[in-house]
This record gives sequence, C-alpha cells and structure tokens, in this order.
Amino acid sequence: MTTGIELRKLRKLYEGHGQGAWAVDGVDMTIGAGKFITLLGPSGCGKTTTLRMIAGLEVPTSGQILRDGLDITDQPVTDRDMRMVFQDFALFPNMTVEQNVTFGLRVRRMRGRYSEAEIKKRVFQFLDLVHLADHAHKKPHQLSGGQKQRVSLARALVTDPQVVLFDEPLGSLDANLRKIMQIELIRIHRELGKTFIYVTHDQDEAMAMSNAIAVMRGGKVMQFGSPRDIYDRPANRYVASFIGHAHIVEAKVAGRDGQGLVVSLGNGEKVRLENENSAATGESVGLMLRAEDLAFGEAGPGMVSGNVADSLYRGEYIEYVVELNGGAGVVHVHARTDLPAIDQGAAVAVRVNPHKAHVLAH
Ligand SMILES: Nc1ncnc2c1ncn2[C@@H]1O[C@H](COP(=O)(O)OP(=O)(O)O)[C@@H](O)[C@H]1O
Ligand SMILES: [Mg+2]
Repeated sequence: MTTGIELRKLRKLYEGHGQGAWAVDGVDMTIGAGKFITLLGPSGCGKTTTLRMIAGLEVPTSGQILRDGLDITDQPVTDRDMRMVFQDFALFPNMTVEQNVTFGLRVRRMRGRYSEAEIKKRVFQFLDLVHLADHAHKKPHQLSGGQKQRVSLARALVTDPQVVLFDEPLGSLDANLRKIMQIELIRIHRELGKTFIYVTHDQDEAMAMSNAIAVMRGGKVMQFGSPRDIYDRPANRYVASFIGHAHIVEAKVAGRDGQGLVVSLGNGEKVRLENENSAATGESVGLMLRAEDLAFGEAGPGMVSGNVADSLYRGEYIEYVVELNGGAGVVHVHARTDLPAIDQGAAVAVRVNPHKAHVLAH
C-alpha cells in the first residue's frame, strides 16, 4: 500500500472541447503523504483540471485516483478530506475574518465534534498560525491581498484536511508579497505535515517550495522529480528550456573516459563533462549550458571561443550574449558586475563547468 495520493493514467476530455484534445492526457504520479508537490507548466497545460479531479470537483474521463491505496475516483467531494485554496480567495465579504474561518468548520458537518468554546479556540489557533489573530474582527475589504490569502488558507486548514490543494494561490499578489507568502507556506507545511498539492506557472515558486515538481505540457507530465533533478538533469529539451535560463547547443559525443564524456561542438571545439551523462560515442546530442555554469577565461584547450553580441546589465550580474565561433550556437554568460565590462564584438573564451553541463537526447 502506498500512503498518499496516486494518479493512474488519469485523463480528461471536456465535452465539446474538440476531437482528441485531452485537457489531461495520461497522468501517472505518486504523491507521498505529507509532501509538498507542485504541478508546473504554462497556461492551458492541464494543471487546474488535474487538481480538480484530485479534489473530486471534476470527473475523470478515464484513469484512477487512489488515496492510501484505496480507489477514491468516484468518491464525492465532501468525503475526500481535502480542501482547496483559490487565487481569488473566495471569502465572504460580509463576514469578519473570524466568521469566515469559523464558517469553514461549521459547514464541514463537524456536528458534535467541537463545542462552541472549542470552535473558537481552534479558529484562533489557525488565525495565529497565519499571523492574523489581531485582525479577527475585520472584514475582507479592510485587509491586504496577502492577508486575505491567509484567511482563505486558515479557513481551509481549520477543518484538518489530510490534503490541501492550491490553485495559483499567490497569483494575484505582487512580487514582494509572493516571496513572503512562499516562506509562510513552507513554514505552515512544515508545522502541519499535511500533503500540499500546489499549482503554479511560476518556476521560481515551484523550485523554492516543493519536494517534487511535475512539469506539464499539453496534458502530459514531461518530468516528475525533485527541484534539483529538474534543474540539473532535465529529462528532455522541453523541461531544460522551461526551467531556468538554459541554452542548448548542438553537439556530438566524441568519446568517453573514466571521468565522463567528451562532446564536440559544431565548430569542432571539445568540451569535457564530468557528471553523470549517458550517451553513446557518435550520438548527436543537445548540450544544455546554463548561464551560471559558464565563465570567461583565458583562451586555450577545452575553452569554447566566441564573440560578445550583446550585454545586459541585470543589477546582480551582467548577462553577456555570446555567439560561439563557427556558428556553433549562442550561450549566455553571467559575469560579476565588478569585473571590467567586455565590449560588444570582443573575442572571448568561455569555460564550461564540467560538473554542471548536461547532455540531452536529440
Ligand atoms: N470547463 C471546461 N470546459 C472545456 N474546456 C476546458 C474547461 N476547463 C479547462 N478546459 C480546457 O482544458 C485545457 C486545460 O485547462 P486547465 O486545466 O485549466 O489548464 P491550466 O490550469 O494548466 O491553465 C485547456 O485547453 C482548457 O481550455
Ligand atoms: Mg489553471
């Protein structure tokens, strides 16, 4: 038996959505109990539909959903012991913060489970958790966006669900507030130990918060793994270019030795890799080169040569756009801002971090 949520070949076709256009197209995933899992992908890739099927708000066209080994595919929403937090908060405007959170408890048929005094105690326990106890008497219109989101979170958590589902909950908040709320959500997840299933199209958010990320595209999961796996060892070109600032240069495997692979770029220059990469000699591959894994250095063997086509001052670093010699491709290099600026057109030599560059199948 697996504890947690298991999705088996989950598919969804909406009525009238067009021939063969699956909103969710065969999703297999195991979400361990107590984990923080994120569905990440562009708009329309099937994140919300997947989440709503887990919640029981949408009926799968085929496939199964299991919880702790039991098939819950046909279980009604109210029996699933899951709560959802939405981007638009969905608060009652005429109720106070306290009443909004209390409503969550009363509506969940908690008959006889709590006395009035216990309900109040429990509501304040969760208002404390989201740092809103001092605002209990306010109405939603008297709160900031971040505070409203905390109320909707407290309202979901107060019923003690096993699983909390989040659909782009921070989407309407500004960048600073989002960062603060990300840290809050991580803390709350750690303190409560519930399963969090989170939907976002923001890769930084997914990377920072999750135990594992499912990168989705066109209703399918392109890769399901830890943030580090997804970032350092993307399974395919789509994941490589969706996460972080990756540039993919076409290459051929020239050989292999004890330390790893030697790959040859289109212009004949060779790069050594010393991490886990599986590819056969002679195979055409894509070499994923992230800006932070590249640095300028002295020209010489093992260096990749090119010319600076552009530079962008980013504040934290200068981003150089480098066209590799012989039309081998374009890479971006992040350089410290206290180093001398490099002029447009200047010839440069780029060192590739042999532990980070990653080979992608063609
Ligand atoms: N109620 C619906 N009726 C018909 N098509 C829908 C409905 N909801 C979503 N879709 C379609 O299903 C696909 C996946 O949508 P959705 O799950 O909302 O994606 P995401 O949350 O990743 O943006 C999209 O093509 C969308 O247009
Ligand atoms: Mg959505």
